[in-house]
Amino acid sequence: MWQATLEYANDNEKDNILNCLYLFNIKGIWEKEGKLIVYFEDKEELDSFKESLQDRKLFFRRVKDNLKWNSLWKKFHRPVSIRPFFITPTFFKGRKPKGLRKILVKPSFAFGTGSHATTKICIYFLVKYVKKGMKVIDMGTGTGILAIISEKLGAEEVYATDIDPIALKEAKDNIKRNRCKKIVLGNEIDNLNNFFDLCVANIVLDELLKLKELFKKILKEKGILILSGILEEQIEELLEKYSDSFRLINRKKKRDRNFNWFGLVFEKI
Ligand SMILES: C[S@@+](CC[C@H](N)C(=O)[O-])C[C@H]1O[C@@H](n2cnc3c(N)ncnc32)[C@H](O)[C@@H]1O
Repeated sequence: MWQATLEYANDNEKDNILNCLYLFNIKGIWEKEGKLIVYFEDKEELDSFKESLQDRKLFFRRVKDNLKWNSLWKKFHRPVSIRPFFITPTFFKGRKPKGLRKILVKPSFAFGTGSHATTKICIYFLVKYVKKGMKVIDMGTGTGILAIISEKLGAEEVYATDIDPIALKEAKDNIKRNRCKKIVLGNEIDNLNNFFDLCVANIVLDELLKLKELFKKILKEKGILILSGILEEQIEELLEKYSDSFRLINRKKKRDRNFNWFGLVFEKI
């Protein structure tokens, strides 16, 4: 059994940790004096959990034998190449490979450094479907990574929303860092009927199910909807919910440790 001790300063931090933990096969969890003690059966699962935390830089100060997470987190952040992009953490000092376009993301609390399978699937599909002049919305933008990439791919106008104010703040910084000029940040999209050519959303299943009607409203006819963050066993429920308004046109699987993640692409009927 492997043990991770996670310290948090307030309820918000604690929620961030718990939101990340749901993805993992943990054997037990208990709370003591402002700390969460989490048990994993094997080291691989613990390592996978640590990798996932890199997207959020959570408060992971001790793993079993006093390993100091805070001094280690930079080691887990690596640039990611997804043609034509090279997504790098801000502290990375190495060279950009020739022919790739650099995207800078500061690893912090928001999700989205490009290293997670679900984000990679979205980037793969954005490269395939975003065309010059499109209006795009990134629903649940996290660090802003998918909105930034959409602009770099030639979108004329990009909206980026998130229910988490910390994500919006971090997205704002990353948008500036990457000199993007066409991204509108915020959650005021209710009046945008039949407005977008493409919507991308990398969010947990429950939220995706709730958001269907909104996607239907804001997308133009034949608009493209890219959904990610879906586990294999969740696909059926999602397809059932979406099939009356959307036609499935593409899908992609990416295995990450013990999980089969799926991205689905729909066209609005
Ligand atoms: C898994 S992260 C994805 C971040 C980034 N787009 C990526 O692909 O790496 C999901 C994000 O969606 C946000 N979120 C969750 N439910 C949402 C909703 N109903 N509307 C907008 N954002 C939401 C979360 O706060 C979080 O930042």
